[in-house]
Amino acid sequence: MPRIAYVNGRYLPHAHAGIHIEDRGYQFADGVYEVCEVARGHIMDMTRHLDRLDRSLRELAIGWPLHRSALQVVMREVVRRNHVRNGLVYLQVTRGVAPRDHVYPAADTPRTLVVTAKKTDPAAAAKRAEKGIKVITVPENRWERVDIKTVGLLPNAMAKQKAKEAGAQEAWFVDPDGTVKEGASTNAWIVTQDGRLVTRPAEFGILRGVTRATVMDVAKKLGVKVEERAFTVEEARKAREAFITAATTIVMPVVDIDGSAIANGHPGSVAVSLRAAFFDVAEKTQA
Ligand code: PDD
Repeated sequence: MPRIAYVNGRYLPHAHAGIHIEDRGYQFADGVYEVCEVARGHIMDMTRHLDRLDRSLRELAIGWPLHRSALQVVMREVVRRNHVRNGLVYLQVTRGVAPRDHVYPAADTPRTLVVTAKKTDPAAAAKRAEKGIKVITVPENRWERVDIKTVGLLPNAMAKQKAKEAGAQEAWFVDPDGTVKEGASTNAWIVTQDGRLVTRPAEFGILRGVTRATVMDVAKKLGVKVEERAFTVEEARKAREAFITAATTIVMPVVDIDGSAIANGHPGSVAVSLRAAFFDVAEKTQA
């Protein structure tokens, strides 16, 4: 079954889908993206993802490529055409194609819209969650506007590569004061000894994760208190639990930071409960 990609109004075989070499996404990373989880045939938390897309586009003065409701139709269609029941739907909007010039092209330059979908294996993810993952810490070296979900992800890719080379699955960016920002592609959380969730405030310095927001809803439902504050690597090492969240991982327990085990080195019960309750609490849009 060949994969299908949507590119600027057309559904194309994935292998032959492409964009122009002078696309500003390619030239300047002048674009934004979203990744949504697809679970049991539903696109999860679509409203929150499209609200964040709207914010990212506004922050960069990029217009919507098409009406929000039309984009929802395209996302569902791409998921359907690729027969994805469990997986991810990816969308990317760039400022469009223009002769290379740092200055923005005219505002009516057609934006580039790409939407793809791929299958993932829920059993493999469940297995990873049963074992937990390892993280390393790396110095924060990104720009200040990481609250915008841009495709400019080179520091993130470098950090993730470093994690892989160290036998870990994620890298946490750490500020000079020792506080944890977030992962290369996930938000970072700990559970304190008295059972409260702690995650960094999302006003600036991190991406306001959609999964982060929904996990707060899950926590409320389960009666778990959430504290939005910075925490240090030291505090994380001594925490009862640690975990990461993203559309690609949902709640994924962290069992090791820079080679030292968290608690007994096994996933904690709070992370496991949050993961189990996530599907029921998240918004579901039939694909
Ligand atoms: N990453 N922080 C960063 C830097 C991210 O790139 C992501 C998502 C998150 C979590 O956001 P959300 O819960 O909305 O997925 C936090 C996506 C999945 C990616 O780049 O693949």
